[in-house]
Formats: sequence, structure tokens, C-alpha cells
Amino acid sequence: MPKIIVAIDGYSSCGKSTTAKLVAKQLNYPYIDTGAMYRAVTLYFIQNHVSLTNPKETETALDNIHITFRRQSEAGRNDTYLNGTNVEDEIRKMYVSEKVSDVSALAEVRHALVAQQQRMGRTKGIVMDGRDIGTVVFPQAELKIFMNADPLIRAQRRQLELLEKGEVIGLEEISENLKMRDYIDTHRTESPLRQATDAIYLDNSLLTLDEQVEMVVRMADEQI
Ligand code: C5P
Repeated sequence: MPKIIVAIDGYSSCGKSTTAKLVAKQLNYPYIDTGAMYRAVTLYFIQNHVSLTNPKETETALDNIHITFRRQSEAGRNDTYLNGTNVEDEIRKMYVSEKVSDVSALAEVRHALVAQQQRMGRTKGIVMDGRDIGTVVFPQAELKIFMNADPLIRAQRRQLELLEKGEVIGLEEISENLKMRDYIDTHRTESPLRQATDAIYLDNSLLTLDEQVEMVVRMADEQI
């Protein structure tokens, strides 16, 4: 059976990762959360006080960063590792969210991560989500989805996600962070977030998770 690339892009916390993970499971494809890669780089930069205004320093830091994903025996978990350490929980914290869009706007960071992502999808049969998958990483992807949801619903979903991890954050602070990240992500010079001309727009504000997964799997099946 031919394998395809499913590229899912969209705004922060609109349910891309949750959907992508389940779609990948149904298609029996690996799933790559590229946001986790940008978060892992950000965590490294914070921990090592890497300057964002010194490209040489940034490049040296990037040479020392090795990001991998490892499936956990615990159902459905595919954790992010930074230089051999499991950072899955740490990278989701608010202090990383506050810095990640500034780090992601750096050309050197994008070049390094896009190259790694392209290597991961070399043989196709992959579901990848992020901001530039359908436009930059895999412009030739067979299926491109651009996801969005109502801003309040997105903030509520994010709040719940953080709460489940024990971080209690007010809705206003979360909304501000989403707004700030959306702004930086859509206005940066290097591969800004935008809908690819051949992407299918999917607003999931009023859809259940099962409904949206089913829709995407059906669209993928049509391409296989
Ligand atoms: O998907 P998530 O919200 O975890 O992504 C965190 C941040 O990483 C985004 O706000 C964006 O700044 C950056 N990102 C990116 N390109 C991607 C994936 C994520 O710039 N492909």
C-alpha cells in the first residue's frame, strides 16, 4: 500500500497534536510533534542561558542538541528526549511556552529542525503537526490540514491540559500566551504560520475529538 505524508498545521492549542496522534495510530504511522522539538530547543536555551541575539552562540548550542522521540510502554505516550533525558513534562510548562515562539523565529533554529523533520519523513508514512509542515517541511505532502478553533475554546483546552499536569494557570494568562504565540508565529520572517494554498481548513470548535479524527482519517484514506 502506498504511504503518504499527513501534514497538520494550525494555531496554538487548537487540538492538532491530539488529533494527529490518533490519526497516526489509526493509519499505523509514526507521529511527530514538531512543537515538542521547538520546545526542547527552547528548554536547552533557557537551561544554558543561550543568547538569542548571537547567531554563533545559537549555532554552537544547536550542534550540542540531540532530540529524539521514544515510545513509552504507557499507552499512547511518545515522549520527547533532549540529549537522552526525558523532557516531555518540562517542555509543556508555562515558562517554556513563554519563550518558545521567540526561539522558533530564529533562522538557525528553523533550518536545523526542518532538516531533521525532513529526514524523519524521507520514506513517507508519517503524520506531522506544527506550523510550517504543509508550507515548508513537506510542501509535497499528499494531505494537508489547517486546523483552527475558537480562541476561548483553545484557551480552555490548554488550561485543562496544564491542570492535568498539575499546573494551575488562569484563563487570562493562557489566552494572552496563545495570542502572543499566534502573533509571533504568523508575523515572523522565517516560515510564518499560514495556510498552504492546497490545505483543507478544519475548524474543530464544535466537533468532538472522534469526529475530527474520523474526518482526517477518511481524507487520508482517499489519498492512499
Ligand atoms: O505546537 P506547540 O504549541 O507545542 O508549539 C510550540 C511553539 O513552537 C509554537 O508556538 C511555535 O512558536 C513553534 N513551532 C514552530 N513551528 C513548528 C511547530 C512549532 O514555529 N513547526
